[in-house]
Amino acid sequence: MQLGSGHWAAMTLSVAVRLGLLEGMEAGPASARELAHQHGYHADSVERLLRGCATLGVTREVEAGVFGLTELGLVLLPSHPRSLRDAIVMLTDPAHWHSWYQLEHTVTTGQPAYQKALGVHNVFEYFAGQPEESERFNRSMASLTRAFVQQLKGAYDIGRFALIADIGGGHGQFLGALLQDAPNSRGLLFDLEAVLAGADQELEALGVAGRVEKVAGSFFETIPAGADLYLLKHILHDWTDEQCVQILEKLAAAMKPGSALLISEMLLAEPPHFSPAAMMDLNMMVMTGGRERTASQYEKLLQSAGFKLTRLLPLEGPNQLIEATYA
Ligand SMILES: C[S@@+](CC[C@H](N)C(=O)[O-])C[C@H]1O[C@@H](n2cnc3c(N)ncnc32)[C@H](O)[C@@H]1O
Repeated sequence: MQLGSGHWAAMTLSVAVRLGLLEGMEAGPASARELAHQHGYHADSVERLLRGCATLGVTREVEAGVFGLTELGLVLLPSHPRSLRDAIVMLTDPAHWHSWYQLEHTVTTGQPAYQKALGVHNVFEYFAGQPEESERFNRSMASLTRAFVQQLKGAYDIGRFALIADIGGGHGQFLGALLQDAPNSRGLLFDLEAVLAGADQELEALGVAGRVEKVAGSFFETIPAGADLYLLKHILHDWTDEQCVQILEKLAAAMKPGSALLISEMLLAEPPHFSPAAMMDLNMMVMTGGRERTASQYEKLLQSAGFKLTRLLPLEGPNQLIEATYA
C-alpha cells in the first residue's frame, strides 16, 4: 500500500511545502490551528495534513494538534544548505504530474507521455510558455546540484582550465560552485534565453557573477567556441541517442585542440544489476523522451560523435562524472 499510494505521499509533502506550513515550525513546534489562522487556511484540513506529514516522517505531533519538524523535515526548509524544497514542489507541478499520468501511453506505444499530456514537441517548449512553473523547475535543478556539488567538486581538478563553459547550465549553480574553487578561471553559462534571465541571483549569491558571461542560444544550433572545459550536466539524459549526437557534434565544432568535456549524469548499472537510476530512467522516458544510460552506452554514444571517453570518475551517490575528449 505504501508503494501504491506513493502519489498520496508526494502530494502531501508538496502541499505542506508550497503552503509554507513547514517554515512555520522552523523556530519550534507550532499549533496547526495557529498556523492555519496565520495564513488564512482551513484549520481542520491543515491539522490533518500535518498529521499525514508525521506519518511520512517529516513532522512529529508533540502534543495534540501541535507539530514540530523532524531531522528529515529540516531538509524541506528553504533555509537548509542542501534544501530539497524546490525539488519536492517540482515533482508535483503540472508538467510532471500530468506526464506521469500518461506513463501507460508510453509503455503501450513508445510515444513520449509528455507529448500527450502537455501537447508540446519537447518539455522545454512547454516551460517557455509557463514562466512560473519554469522558474520552479530551474530553481529545483539548482537545488539538486547544490545537494551533490561538494562531491563533484572534490573529484575533478577544475583550476587548470582558464575558461569553463556550462552548456545547458540552467541558473549556473554548478558552474558557479566550480568557479568558487577555481579563482583564476572564468565561466561561460549557456542556456535558453528565458532560463538565463533567472541566473543572476544565483551567480551573485555564489560570488562569481563578475567572472561569468551568459550566452543565450540552443545547443541544437550552435555552441560558443573556445572554452578549455565544457560541462554537460544532466543534459544528455534529456534526449534520444540521435539528438545527443546532434548536441555532441555542435560541441565538437566549438571545441579547440586540448579542450575537455566533462559529463555529469546518473549511470544505470550494467544489466542485470539493480540500479537506482532505473526510476530516473522512467522519469526521463515520461518527461523528455530521453533516457539514463550505462557507462558503456555513454562510451558508444560519445564514439558515434567522434569523442573518446578518457576517464570515468567513480563517485558515491547518484551523480557520476565522465571525462571525454574530441578524438
Ligand atoms: C535537466 S536541466 C539541467 C540543468 C543543469 N545543467 C543542472 O544540472 O542543474 C536541462 C537544461 O537544458 C536546458 N536546455 C533545454 N533545451 C536547450 C537547448 N535547446 N539549448 C540550450 N539549453 C537547453 C534547459 O533550459 C535546462 O536548463
